[in-house]
Amino acid sequence: MPSLSGSDELIFFVNGKKVVVKKPDPEVTLLFYLRRELHLTGTKFACGEGGCGACTVMVSRYSASSKQIRHYPVTACLVPICSLHGAAVTTVEGVGSIRTRVHPVQERLAKCHGTQCGFCSPGMVMSIYTLLRNHPDPTPEQVTEALGGNLCRCTGYRPIVESGKTFCANPTVCQVKRPGRCCLEQEEEEAGSVHTREKMCTKLYDKDEFQPLDPSQEPIFPPELIRMAEDPNKRRLTFQGERTTWLAPATLPDLLELRAEFPQAPLIMGNTTVGPDIKFKGEFHPVFVSPLELPELCVLNSEGDGVTVGSGHSLAQLSDALQSIVSQQPSERTETCRALLNHLRTLAGVQIRSMATLGGHVATRATVSDLNPILAAGKTTIHLVSKEGERQIPLDGAFLEGSPRAGLRPGEIVLSVFIPYSSQWQFVSGLRQAQRQENAMAIVNAGMSVRLEDGSSTIRDLQVFYGGIGPTVLSASRTCGQLVGRQWDDQMLGEACRGILDELRLPPGAKGGQVEFRHTLMLSLLFKFYLRVQRALSKLCVDPHQPPQDPVGHPVMHQAGLKHATGEAAFVDDLPLVSQELFLAVVTSTRAHAKIISIDTGEALALPGVVAVITAEDVPGENNHQGEIFYAQREVVCVGQIVCTVAADTYAHAREAAQKVKVEYEDIEPRIITIEQALEHSSFLSPERKIEQGNVEQAFKHVDQVIEGEVHVEGQEHFYMETQTILAVPRAEDKEMVLHLGTQFPTHVQEFVATALNVPRNRIACHMRRAGGAFGGKVTKPALLGAVAAVAAKKTGRPIRFVLERGDDMLITAGRHPLLGRYKVGFMKSGLIKAVDLEFYINGGCTPDESQLVIEYVVLKSENAYYIPNFRCRGRACKTNLPSNTAFRGFGFPQATVVVEAYMTAVASHCDLLPEEVREMNMYKRPSQTAYRQRFDPEPLRRCWKDCLEHSSFHARKRAAEDFNRQSRWKKRGLAMIPMKYTIGVPVAYYHQAAALVHIYLDGSVLLTHGGCELGQGLHTKMMQVASRELGIPTSYIHLSETSTVTVPNAVFTAGSMGTDINGKAVQNACQTLMARLQPVIRRNPKGKWEEWIKKAFEESISLSATGYFRGFQTNMDWDKERGDAFPYYVYGAACAEVDVDCLSGAHKLLRADIFMDAAFSINPAVDIGQIEGAFVQGMGLYTTEELKYSPKGKLRSQGTNDYKIPTVTEIPEEFHVTLVHSRNPVAIYSSKGLGEAGMFLGSSVISAIWDAVAAARKERKGAESVPETLAVRSPATPEWIRMACVDQFTDMIPRDDPSTFTPWSICVS
Ligand SMILES: Cc1cc2nc3c(=O)[nH]c(=O)nc-3n(C[C@H](O)[C@H](O)[C@H](O)COP(=O)(O)OP(=O)(O)OC[C@H]3O[C@@H](n4cnc5c(N)ncnc54)[C@H](O)[C@@H]3O)c2cc1C
Ligand code: FES
Ligand code: FES
Repeated sequence: MPSLSGSDELIFFVNGKKVVVKKPDPEVTLLFYLRRELHLTGTKFACGEGGCGACTVMVSRYSASSKQIRHYPVTACLVPICSLHGAAVTTVEGVGSIRTRVHPVQERLAKCHGTQCGFCSPGMVMSIYTLLRNHPDPTPEQVTEALGGNLCRCTGYRPIVESGKTFCANPTVCQVKRPGRCCLEQEEEEAGSVHTREKMCTKLYDKDEFQPLDPSQEPIFPPELIRMAEDPNKRRLTFQGERTTWLAPATLPDLLELRAEFPQAPLIMGNTTVGPDIKFKGEFHPVFVSPLELPELCVLNSEGDGVTVGSGHSLAQLSDALQSIVSQQPSERTETCRALLNHLRTLAGVQIRSMATLGGHVATRATVSDLNPILAAGKTTIHLVSKEGERQIPLDGAFLEGSPRAGLRPGEIVLSVFIPYSSQWQFVSGLRQAQRQENAMAIVNAGMSVRLEDGSSTIRDLQVFYGGIGPTVLSASRTCGQLVGRQWDDQMLGEACRGILDELRLPPGAKGGQVEFRHTLMLSLLFKFYLRVQRALSKLCVDPHQPPQDPVGHPVMHQAGLKHATGEAAFVDDLPLVSQELFLAVVTSTRAHAKIISIDTGEALALPGVVAVITAEDVPGENNHQGEIFYAQREVVCVGQIVCTVAADTYAHAREAAQKVKVEYEDIEPRIITIEQALEHSSFLSPERKIEQGNVEQAFKHVDQVIEGEVHVEGQEHFYMETQTILAVPRAEDKEMVLHLGTQFPTHVQEFVATALNVPRNRIACHMRRAGGAFGGKVTKPALLGAVAAVAAKKTGRPIRFVLERGDDMLITAGRHPLLGRYKVGFMKSGLIKAVDLEFYINGGCTPDESQLVIEYVVLKSENAYYIPNFRCRGRACKTNLPSNTAFRGFGFPQATVVVEAYMTAVASHCDLLPEEVREMNMYKRPSQTAYRQRFDPEPLRRCWKDCLEHSSFHARKRAAEDFNRQSRWKKRGLAMIPMKYTIGVPVAYYHQAAALVHIYLDGSVLLTHGGCELGQGLHTKMMQVASRELGIPTSYIHLSETSTVTVPNAVFTAGSMGTDINGKAVQNACQTLMARLQPVIRRNPKGKWEEWIKKAFEESISLSATGYFRGFQTNMDWDKERGDAFPYYVYGAACAEVDVDCLSGAHKLLRADIFMDAAFSINPAVDIGQIEGAFVQGMGLYTTEELKYSPKGKLRSQGTNDYKIPTVTEIPEEFHVTLVHSRNPVAIYSSKGLGEAGMFLGSSVISAIWDAVAAARKERKGAESVPETLAVRSPATPEWIRMACVDQFTDMIPRDDPSTFTPWSICVS
């Protein structure tokens, strides 16, 4: 630490107001400062690692050298406040407000239904807003690109993109991209179909309905900041924090001086490497050096033999510069520039690209750096400078591999990078494969360059660099050297593959796993480069231009839509600080099954700001309620179990102290991680469940063929954008405790907290206004976490704010149950299935949670839409030493039915039929009984199937795909259509009861409360619609504030797609009671106004408050008899998906999706369609990119946006058609249907389409030893699975390690 006296003032602007920080702390981020110091809570915290975009704000800076203002988006969680000296920050509050003026970006996001839970909305607004500040008339591609760094877990992105595209010169207003007409108009022309189908037009509002965008209305850049930037006497600034010092030199010599003085201090440029390393790797730096804008770092010179780019250029600026060079220079000179540009498009999101600098990227030398392998292949040089002088070094293998003699010397900085232009016979490519196509670190990437002898195919120089296969980028220099002089032909390729495999090998248990896949990718990427050069030599063209995504749009707005978009919708952590409040950090178990020998809290308690360490000893009541343990006691049963918590005055102090708590363990056997291990140890959470019809054994004897198989379906993380957050406020009197939290089940929280504190439930009040997404993950877990927080509040006597960080949330709360499905199917040659015997096992984790219910659902729902006369299904929940899995949208159905579709596909393959033919043949056709004897009429199922077949032009497209596949060797097209019969509700009648409370005030306004929770699914919007209709007043009269155990006691969970069904009935009941009471008044004055009736009613002493109640649907299930009327009704649907699969890399692209969903009568089509699209995209994630990785010892390895990939905006289908189909549903309110979950499973049409494409690839190698007849499928179909399933000469070359000889990095737990 330098001895420095005093600290300079930090000056920046936020939303036009000057901020002067007297003693800025270098460790404080902009996000923290905005939320905690300035109370601007519109900017959200969701991941803290730059990976989700929820914290996006706009930074504007004036450059004294160019005299221009640059606006760019940043993720505030990675911006140290000290880096903002001289900058202007705009947050969502500075863009617009419902209190003053809503900005057009906010208005359109809300009106286009781009908000559901609203947690991502401020970030979305800021990304579009920043784009418009730079490009008031953007192209559709720019809109999509601008949103590439923002995650949304609810909407499926389409309406968000659509809202942004309304600012384009020619916005697409309808999902059917035909000029001039919208799909509604075409629909009207389709005589005969109108009465059976309600086609959801995705038409936007007329542009006239929106406020116009007027760039001249935007705030001006603060003149004071221009004066500061132009000040000729700028001097070094010093900011002194609690533990660290920030030095900001104003000139290059000063920077070099500091670099020499503090050679170990990081040079903070974008902070996109240093920031995450501090946070996640625990690095500590006492000194930071971060230059103010230095012109020497911002040079750009494209004259001569190449382009010189100053190291201070952000990657976004680099991209702009390369774009301009590519448009000016002949194409043979820009091979390297184009390869870089290509990767810059997919490297992170715009925010990170706007922050990260070229110098930082090069100097970091990360193993999966996307640019360095290309720069190296293109023979780039680096210009270094220090106090001692300047020098140029090559950015080559030695530099990237970290050789000390080839790297930076102490005191040196990267001044600029020189990228040479390519020559005529040179080809340069950047190649990569990631878990998700964009905004995801590569699994393996490569930069390759070949220089051929002029006019020939003889190799003069070859450069191949790989990232992702070692601790640094590696060069295949030996192999490349051996190939010089060889012809660019197949023989050379074979040798190159063998040479590379020999030269660069990963050990079998290598960090990151996927060893065989990574080896295969090395060869596949080389082969892609080989083909590219071959084609260029023979003048063949490359891939056609991908068309832009095609959106859909709808007409009704979410009740809180505008508040979401302006950031004024308050989530729990947005609540202002409560006096005396403490922050809580968790200490979690690092062992899967162990005895706790000791907990040493001494060091933690001695740290500043720490108030208490809370353990099981502090729980006044029960610490183990219904098998759920609040604080571990004596033993731990999974990695991630809460052992103790630390309460401190700031979160930073609590977290630091938590890291100092020492827990000593002694492992206990057995440690059970996988389902297989659970079966070996007969470790179960609940008894077996079974349903059976017909005579399965007998039927197997009379069929043409019997096949058996097993399918592994891995779990899924909820990844709600708002992590679990609780504010627990103890009251001094009567042992009361008030909790504010985002939950789907306030009653459950009340129960657990009361139990933990040993008080009656009437002392515990739980308030829930909204949750930033839930998807099942906030049904049971908030109760456990609520109890943990309440015990801390009780012990300290102070309010406790408990916000789980993303990594902790993923670790502690677990997610969807991994499932193992085993099937035996007996069928006729025609494809007709006569008998099915199914066994399902789910990995429940260490405590009961809802695993029993999930396995019951799995068993009940397992027949999906198929009638199998002899059918048996058994299921069991396994107890393992993993964190306890819980409810997740679809509740077991999405996992189980993928097994069903797998055997449908297998039967089709054996009968040489299309899977769709087998599906249709075995589908329920007439009023029938399910396997558990519940009667139903599948007519809407048949209609959805038929409509989907017709309107998706399935058969014509299937033929076209077959033609395509015949002609394309390395890219295959797959198409699949699947049916769905989805159950709503639960087989327990009392879980369907609901209550509501409606007050009418004397001014006529209505306060509506019900037991359901608003999770982004639009429940409150629908409830207001119900009340509006029943009371005959506009929705503007009705207010809905929150859900609370104080107003509606004992409410059941909001889940299972039945929120509207049951709460709607209760609201209707309350409103009808009130209307009945008002009838005498209305009869006497039928032409009167609502306000007059209310006044009169009051004067006549008529009560204006009523409770409403719904007893629930009378469902039941008798497991002994294996029969019951288990569900109130079914939702039917069908979906068709078409994908392209890149057989060499394992990448896939969803080209088109068609969904037909039986919505009966939709109360709010905009909300319903939003649910379907959101669920479909979430399903797509489950079945393709979302992969949880566990170590063999049970540690979750994927704990953040870096390692876990939910779909982004670029994953949504280019064509996405959603049609709601009418039917009748007298059971539910207004004959509607619950659609929250059903769309999830329809996402499996994507995995089925992938299987189809993979099968086409394997067909080409039919008969080869490595290609068994039945494709062994699994979920998710990740790039790894796809690549390894598309067997070819490259996969055959990969050496297979003997599994008994090493410990794998990660294992499959299903
Ligand atoms: C969410 C996220 C997603 C990402 N995705 C990708 C991706 O898909 N592909 C990819 O390749 N990368 C990705 N990255 C990494 C990113 O490219 C790098 O973090 C970035 O380029 C580093 O630049 P910086 O300016 O932020 O460096 P900083 O973090 O400021 O500094 C990094 C290091 O470089 C040193 N340094 C900085 N500038 C200089 C200089 N001029 N001279 C000498 N030393 C210097 C510093 O001392 C420090 O040690 C991602 C990062 C994040 C946070
Ligand atoms: S919270 Fe900053 S990007 Fe996620
Ligand atoms: S609306 Fe985007 S995360 Fe909920």
